[in-house]
Amino acid sequence: MPAVQTPFPKRYGPWAVIAGASEGLGAAFAEALAMRGQNLVLVARRPALLDALAAKLRAERGVDIKTVACDLAEPSFMEVILRETAGLEVGVAVYNAAYAPVGPLLDRPLDELLRVIDVNVRGPLSFAHGLAPGMVARGRGGVVLMSSLAGFQGSPRIATYAASKAFIRVLGESLWGELRPKGVDVVVSCAGAIRTPGYQQSAKKDAPGTLDADRVAEQTLAALGHGPLIVPGVVNKLASVLVGRLFPRATAVSLMKAATKNLT
Ligand SMILES: NC(=O)c1ccc[n+]([C@@H]2O[C@H](COP(=O)([O-])OP(=O)(O)OC[C@H]3O[C@@H](n4cnc5c(N)ncnc54)[C@H](OP(=O)(O)O)[C@@H]3O)[C@@H](O)[C@H]2O)c1
Repeated sequence: MPAVQTPFPKRYGPWAVIAGASEGLGAAFAEALAMRGQNLVLVARRPALLDALAAKLRAERGVDIKTVACDLAEPSFMEVILRETAGLEVGVAVYNAAYAPVGPLLDRPLDELLRVIDVNVRGPLSFAHGLAPGMVARGRGGVVLMSSLAGFQGSPRIATYAASKAFIRVLGESLWGELRPKGVDVVVSCAGAIRTPGYQQSAKKDAPGTLDADRVAEQTLAALGHGPLIVPGVVNKLASVLVGRLFPRATAVSLMKAATKNLT
């Protein structure tokens, strides 16, 4: 007989915060968490998209939802989130947002590359550092950090993005080790290509193993509490083992170079 799972709000706490929730995978996380009965705090820069998603999920799922328009590249963004969530028991924290400029590193302005560090490195670090202490104090909670297959090896034309995703993976795995004994689950999701507006703007056609956002969100949330890392999708799991562990590094980088050559 399959094990009966404790419902998310009971297991983790009633509210979930999703950073980068206005569309794509972030919106899919919002849907999946609302379906599990979580109240939501949706964070992104475009308030109209957040409000439309909030109205839809309130009507369909009957959960409470707050929206917070803010730029996660701003060093002070965590103050905004902590102010907006004061008094709420945040049991689940999902850092989904990312910035992914494409092109040879030396052709990109340094400011743009440093923005990757702001959104993809300082962002998840500040987010986990700000929201996990409450979870530890209550002895329950779940943290989800979005990484990428790009973070398993050097990835020409998306070098800074790939490096930031390696940071997130190691950060999340480390936190998993630190927080598990305190009752807080952490999972890093190392996704392959996902059909999101961001990806579809950048890629001309689907890469092998491309998944819909709802499948990635479902597989990631199902993995919370079952180890530090998930690679959603069978093709991507296989790719992660071959490219991340079995192939020589030079081969892994060459394969990524071929995979990113048509991104714009
Ligand atoms: N798509 C893929 O193929 C793929 C593959 C592997 C991993 N991933 C990872 O999966 C996650 C989601 O990918 P995605 O394709 O859905 O990304 P996306 O389309 O670029 O959008 C991500 C969300 O983050 C928000 N966001 C971006 N920058 C922000 C900022 N500075 N401040 C506040 N919100 C911000 C966006 O909303 P606003 O624009 O309204 O702010 C949007 O809601 C990312 O972490 C990405 O690295 C994606």
